[in-house]
Amino acid sequence: MKFFVDTADTAAIRELNDLGMVDGVTTNPSLILKSGRDIIEVTKEICDIVEGPVSAEVVAKDAAEMIREGKHLAEIAKNITVKVPLTWDGLKACKALSSEGHMVNVTLCFSAAQAILAAKAGATFISPFIGRLDDINLDGMQLIEDIRTIYDNYDFRTEILAASIRSVNHITDAARVGADVITAPPAVIKSMVNHVLTDKGLAQFDADWAKTGQKIG
Ligand code: G3P
Repeated sequence: MKFFVDTADTAAIRELNDLGMVDGVTTNPSLILKSGRDIIEVTKEICDIVEGPVSAEVVAKDAAEMIREGKHLAEIAKNITVKVPLTWDGLKACKALSSEGHMVNVTLCFSAAQAILAAKAGATFISPFIGRLDDINLDGMQLIEDIRTIYDNYDFRTEILAASIRSVNHITDAARVGADVITAPPAVIKSMVNHVLTDKGLAQFDADWAKTGQKIG
């Protein structure tokens, strides 16, 4: 399973990247706003840090303008993945950009039917949003499972990029049902290390070690 980091916070990306935990990065207009930085400048810095795909999202609504924006973003670096929304125009832009050899991430996917269209349009990645489906009492993980089954049935090569991940369980469940990639905020990735029994065990070892009166080295 590949780990993408869902942020435009370059300090957080560097910290995880130094540990070998970053296979790519995803950004979106909300994350660019949160960074407080210029989209081109911050995306270039991210591409300099990370070798894998870095998703940068277009904001136009019509296909021709999405293609123009996508090509502009793709000039930032070789590892740019152009992110387009799952609309009819987004699919047209996906087809045009992927036919020209650009990686394309089709985002805001909320149904298996949408995921089929994205694969047919040549998407490199499809981004189903787990958390936002769960928010409205639908089953985000079931969508990942359904897309996995459908893509495998027909040998679609589009990678399933599980997005809108809010918890550690989302990550392990996405891994269990066969998502190719997860993208999660740095804090969620870092919280994967936490376990109450690890903390408890360490406290016990500390207490017992103090009683030995020994030192190492
Ligand atoms: O990658 C998409 C992701 O950023 C959306 O997450 O938590 O805003 O639904 P969220």
